[in-house]
Amino acid sequence: MNSGALKGRRVVFGVSGGIAAYKALECVRLLTEGEAEVRVVMTPEATRFVAPLSFESLSYHPVAADWLDARGSGETHIQLSEWAEVVVVAPATANTIARLALGLADEVLSGTVLASEAPLVVCPAMNDRMFSHPQTEAHLASLRQRGAVVVEPAIGRLASGKTGIGRLASPERIVAAIGAVLNGRRNLEGLRVVVTAGGTREPLDPVRYVGNFSSGKMGRALAEVAAARGARVSLITTIPGASEEIDEVRVTTAQEMLEAVQRESAQADVLVMAAAVADYRPAEVASSKIRRTSKPLDLRLQPNVDILAAVGRRKGLFRVGFAAETSDVEPQAREKLKAKELDLIVANQVGVNGQGLGSDFNAVTIVSANGLVREVPRLTKWEVAERVWDAIHEARSAGR
Ligand code: CTP
Repeated sequence: MNSGALKGRRVVFGVSGGIAAYKALECVRLLTEGEAEVRVVMTPEATRFVAPLSFESLSYHPVAADWLDARGSGETHIQLSEWAEVVVVAPATANTIARLALGLADEVLSGTVLASEAPLVVCPAMNDRMFSHPQTEAHLASLRQRGAVVVEPAIGRLASGKTGIGRLASPERIVAAIGAVLNGRRNLEGLRVVVTAGGTREPLDPVRYVGNFSSGKMGRALAEVAAARGARVSLITTIPGASEEIDEVRVTTAQEMLEAVQRESAQADVLVMAAAVADYRPAEVASSKIRRTSKPLDLRLQPNVDILAAVGRRKGLFRVGFAAETSDVEPQAREKLKAKELDLIVANQVGVNGQGLGSDFNAVTIVSANGLVREVPRLTKWEVAERVWDAIHEARSAGR
């Protein structure tokens, strides 16, 4: 998460009564870790799942759970609704979603939402049949129409023991979405995005490969940031490990990556090729392990397919390439942008200690075909990913 995205921001965090309420504790912890100011509001049912004391301990403030509490002024929901810069409901049960959509206000959470003009972030969590019920879909559609951001639930094991859609999005995803909303960056909603990550591995024999030092971290950060901004993301990677809301396609070789990119990008709006694709592969792959001898071993390599070139230009697909440069970063990047007919290129400065391949940091120059140039200083890969998506959004909005 971008450090500073939450600092000092005022978040009203509503918890409704589902088993996923325990995950809301982690959301609040992450928010306060990011130095957001958090006030928790709970439905009466939610307090049966998790004690308000737990939320008080993590948010450092009293929890509003009973709006008929004689100690309160009776105006808690009004004060909170005016204070909030964003109102989040996580988990949002089917019942709470219905009440929010209808504008009911029969307890403190729905009362706060109804009274607030702040952006609303709704994170559904429920049984898969309840989530897919046309009535729930209609309620969510009506909330969306009024500008609410819905952080889609994941597919996974549900409380019923079955696997289906309805698992609360991960706390990291929810907090990243809150950060995107607070910073006006929830701007990829409805887009389909394909990101590649990691270095391809080209087999030499059954136990060895020719590869590179790419860790896949830059590509994964790009995928996570896109998802936090509302895109549907497919991550094609040689190194697995994305969060469960991201469709991950595992590949090994450049040829496999090509096939996956062609398949996944057929319907996509943006393709980001952050992977370090091996330019060459062994000309022959031994069928059994190459044995050690005392003689030198010569390897013959042959060129690999160029994935970006093979995918080619398509109207409606914004193609982003990466380039690893040791010198003349911007002119080299411009040349590659032109040669590969890309819409945008992100040039890494490699050969500098503590950034780029394998590191958690990167420094890049971004150049677009329609004239945008951005210098991004050494930052975490997550922060660089934020800048890359800002540039993609800007270049796409400006058109070609
Ligand atoms: N790329 C690709 N298929 C390949 C090689 C690279 O699609 N076989 C993509 C990379 O994912 C990256 C961009 O093309 O987005 C990089 O282009 P390339 O010219 O290979 O850059 P460098 O690796 O920096 O090239 P060079 O070795 O020529 O400096």
